[in-house]
Amino acid sequence: MPEVRLKGVSKTFSGNIVALKGMDLVVKDRDYVVLLGPSGCGKTTLLKTIAGIYPPTSGSVHIGARNVTSLPIEEHNVGMMFQNYALFPHLSTEKNVSYGPVIRELSAEKTKEIAMRMLELVKFPSDRASAFPSELSGGMQQRVALARALASQSSLLLLDEPLCALDAKIGEELRLELRNIVKTLGLTAIHVTHNQEEAMSMADTIVVMNKGQIMQVGTPEEVYFKPANLFVAYFVGEANFFECKIKRRTAKALEVNFLGKDFRLSKADASRIPDGADKAIAVFRPEKLVLSKRQPYHANFVKAKIGSRRFLGEKIRYELSCGSRPIIVRRLGFGRGFKTGDAVFVSFDESDALLLNCPDGPIEKVGG
Ligand SMILES: Nc1ncnc2c1ncn2[C@@H]1O[C@H](COP(=O)(O)OP(=O)(O)OP(=O)(O)O)[C@@H](O)[C@H]1O
Ligand SMILES: [Mg+2]
Repeated sequence: MPEVRLKGVSKTFSGNIVALKGMDLVVKDRDYVVLLGPSGCGKTTLLKTIAGIYPPTSGSVHIGARNVTSLPIEEHNVGMMFQNYALFPHLSTEKNVSYGPVIRELSAEKTKEIAMRMLELVKFPSDRASAFPSELSGGMQQRVALARALASQSSLLLLDEPLCALDAKIGEELRLELRNIVKTLGLTAIHVTHNQEEAMSMADTIVVMNKGQIMQVGTPEEVYFKPANLFVAYFVGEANFFECKIKRRTAKALEVNFLGKDFRLSKADASRIPDGADKAIAVFRPEKLVLSKRQPYHANFVKAKIGSRRFLGEKIRYELSCGSRPIIVRRLGFGRGFKTGDAVFVSFDESDALLLNCPDGPIEKVGG
């Protein structure tokens, strides 16, 4: 039921600050959607617009069958967890979580039952239910805020950075728990995060935003391996970008030149560059590049030197020098790997080359 539909939603704050620009988005019923984007790109504004806290400047918001654009907050009927938790400081944990049921005028007995069940669901210690927010750790406050959002018993959950105050290990555990809670209760969730691993591991659908606009909507795999544009490739994960000249296009292959060498890319995805373009950006994820001491048998390689290596646990991250641009390669950390100063061959499978449209300015500016 709670499919969310935004049509041409814009939000301009006083001082002509444009936070959302004509946004179209459909969130499917029971989907776990993660919003990913740089600070200030409008993620919180988008959640608050869906929740009815900010009326949009133009456009419409539908939740389920209802147009809620100009309805008051309570008519939006969403469970929201705010970026700064926004717990009521003068209320105990239990009373904070009871807020939604109390507003809906449920009986005292039913209210207590829901509050205690939600606190249990988020693994909040039951003997601390009478503590005030100021007496709780940041991680505990985060669980209370999550329990409060769940206790609203709305089928649409809006979560603004719900796991950011937790340490890495607990955050990782709670990712799985949170997704399970949402799936078990059959809810639709829109979750904002800065953490890419969190986004990748939790989302059914990722929405990448920049400057109040949507850059791509897709599964985590699509967004990572098939970025729609340079911004997404640059913002999500790490990537190598090589500016290339398109020398020839045939029905079967694209002949390009980058890093001072000609390559014949017969299986590369070139669907994102316009037909007549004479240049493009070739994008390679660092784990798709292969290092070897011996020259590969095929022609897709360049010679380079290991500039630095960083041990990352299961992977080693190498920074190589080759011409004016560094090349980043990640390989599994088994064995000795390569040493700084080693001369190596960097090679790739032509199906792992993704060609994207060249921006007008320098590619370093894409992320800014
Ligand atoms: N109440 C407000 N009044 C005026 N400007 C606002 C208001 N809320 C947000 N903005 C502005 O709108 C833009 C988007 O802000 P928003 O809080 O939505 O970003 P965000 O993506 O959530 O960022 P972060 O990741 O840092 O939380 C920013 O330029 C911000 O300064
Ligand atoms: Mg925010």
